Formats: sequence, structure tokens, C-alpha cells
Amino acid sequence: MQGFIFCFYKNVLRHCTSEIITILYLYTVFNHKHIKMSVEIFAKVQTVLETLKAEKIENAQELEAFRIRYVGSKNEIKALFGEIKNVDNERKKEFGQLLNDVKQAAEKKYELYNTELENNSGDQSGNGLDLTAPSEPIPSGSRHPVSLVLNRIINIFERIGFTVAEEREIEDDWHNFTAMNTPEDHPARDMQDTFYLKDSTTELLRTHTSSVQARIMTTQKPPIRIIAPGRVYRNETISSRSHCQFHQVEGLYIDKNVSFADMKQTLLYFAREMYGPQAEIRLRPSFFPFTEPSAEMDVYWGLKNDDDYRITKGTGWLEILGCGMVDPNVLINCGIDPEEYSGFAFGMGIERQAMLQFKITDIRQLFENDTRFLKQFSGVI
Ligand code: DAH
Repeated sequence: MQGFIFCFYKNVLRHCTSEIITILYLYTVFNHKHIKMSVEIFAKVQTVLETLKAEKIENAQELEAFRIRYVGSKNEIKALFGEIKNVDNERKKEFGQLLNDVKQAAEKKYELYNTELENNSGDQSGNGLDLTAPSEPIPSGSRHPVSLVLNRIINIFERIGFTVAEEREIEDDWHNFTAMNTPEDHPARDMQDTFYLKDSTTELLRTHTSSVQARIMTTQKPPIRIIAPGRVYRNETISSRSHCQFHQVEGLYIDKNVSFADMKQTLLYFAREMYGPQAEIRLRPSFFPFTEPSAEMDVYWGLKNDDDYRITKGTGWLEILGCGMVDPNVLINCGIDPEEYSGFAFGMGIERQAMLQFKITDIRQLFENDTRFLKQFSGVI
């Protein structure tokens, strides 16, 4: 470019007037200056690029300084864009591209270090991870005492072919009472007052897991062999011994020729698995609307110390569950022919067994979710 201008200058010199010469001279000087400036600006941009690449970022303060200098609203690169007017026309495009590259390099570097420092936060020195440091202990939860007892019971019955049936806690009147041979106005309903859903006289919180019997018998064909664990509700005054919510496990076995002896043997097996091979059971005649005959089962607890006297009311026997042969009316209500099928059922509370096993004196502790209480069971599986 410079060579061409001087050549041109020499040739026209001979023919042109002094004005033209002056103009040309001025143009050349100006152009020469302009070219010199362009080169300087390019060099300046190049230096900015190199310094920003070499910039050390090891902590949040250094990152912030970098951001202000190269990425922030008044950054150095922005100022360089203003220089474009001083750049030789032919090189304007090249200059623009170079500046964009510098801008992108700054933004990329900022992003990279920003995420790196964020991931590494806590390490203010920015020295990275200490791979030899011992790991943070992972806090492990503990099973709730009610779940511990429930799981044991489920295991015991699963081993002899019972499957788990889970059903709704919001029940209707029919499944909870009527189907279970407790029609409206039956006095047995008084013993199981519950909570009704607002504006409903038929939807309620189930009072016992026996409602699952009706759910299963109306939807499955015999043979039926299920246990139904779950939460139940009663309108009871809350005290250290009773609560308005608690858990039960229901059992139901329906098949041809199921007898009272089958029930007794099944429950003896359960008692021995649950309370040890020496456990003895006794069945006391009782009444439940949905079984006939009905019984209450006690397990021999022993009378070794004062606590045993208190727990067993001085008899040595502990009441565990209610049971009986499924009343033919219940079978008919649920569409099963009592001439063809018979069965037994049982139902037991979980809280009392949990309280005995873990020496818990107040049932309310089981529902308060106080972690200081619950943590004590972390070692139990
Ligand atoms: N549903 C009874 C209750 O909550 C317990 C019960 C007794 C269940 C006898 C049964 C049974 O299946 O046969 O008090």
C-alpha cells in the first residue's frame, strides 16, 4: 500500500499542479498516520486478549475483578469497540471479528471459573478437592417402631402363603359396617364411633381393617389368603393408652373346608414365631358381628416380675387379637356361597405389641414424630 502510494506520487508529480501535490501529500501523510494507528489498535486488542487469557482466577474476589474488567457493563473490551472508527476501512471487518473473539473468550473464561468456584464452594482457598479427606457421614434414618412390628408380622404370615392387601383409609359405611354384618342401628356400631367426612353420612375413616375383608371378597374369588396391615381411626379421647389413630393387621382365609382347627393352628404358628417357640395360646369365647363363633386370643406372657403382673393384669396372659370363623352373612353380603366356602379371620392391634416390645409407656409418642424418640430405634431392623 505504502509503495503504491509513493510510486503514484512520483508519477503524478511531473504533471500536476502544486495544489494537487499538496492535497496528495496531505492525503499520504494522513493515510500513513491512519495505517500506523490501525496497527497500534490491533496490537492493543491482541494484548488485551493475551492478558485476559493469562489472568489467574483462584477465588471469588479474583473472579469478580475479572468480571468487572472484561465482562461487566463498563468493561475494557467495550471501550475497544469505540476504536473501530480509527481503523482502516479495509480492516474494519477484521477488527470487528477480532474484538468479538476477545469478548467471547472473556465470557467463556468467566462462565468456566464461575461454575467451577460454585461447585467448589466451601473451599475458599480454591485449592480444589482434598481427595484424602474423610467423607461426611451419611445420616441414616430409622424405622418407626410400628413399622418394625408390622414388618415382622407380615414376614411371619408371608412365609405361610398370605399376601399383603392394602386398601383405602377413607371407607364407605357399607364396607366398614354393613357388609361386616353390622347394619345401621346395630349396637356394635357404638363401640366404633369414627370421623365422618364433611357433609357425608356414608364416607368415613375406617374403624378397623376388617373393611378390607369386604373389599377383597367382593373383588376376588376364593381361595383367598390375605393379611391387610394399615391405619385405622376411632373417635376416642387421646390418652397415654389410647389414640384416635392406630394400626391393625387383618387376616382372612377363605377356601373349601376351612375349619376352626386351621385357624387355631395358624395362630399358634404366628404366636410362636412372634413370641418364641415356647409361646402358648388360649382362645376365649367372645363376640364380633362378623365372625361366628368368635374368640379372643391370649399369649402366655409369664409372671416373672412386677411388670408382668401389671401388663397381664396378674393373669400371665396377654390379649393379642380377635378372631373367628367368618359369619355366613358376611360371605353372602360379599357374594360368596357359604354352602361352598368357609373361612376364618383375625385382627390385631400393632401399637400395643410395639409398646410391649420396646417398653414404650405412652402411645402418643408413636404419633408425635419426635426425632429424639425415633432415633432410638436406628439399630433395630
Ligand atoms: N375388627 C376388630 C376390631 O377392630 C378386630 C377383629 C376381630 C377382626 C375378629 C377380625 C376378627 O377379623 O375376626 O376390634
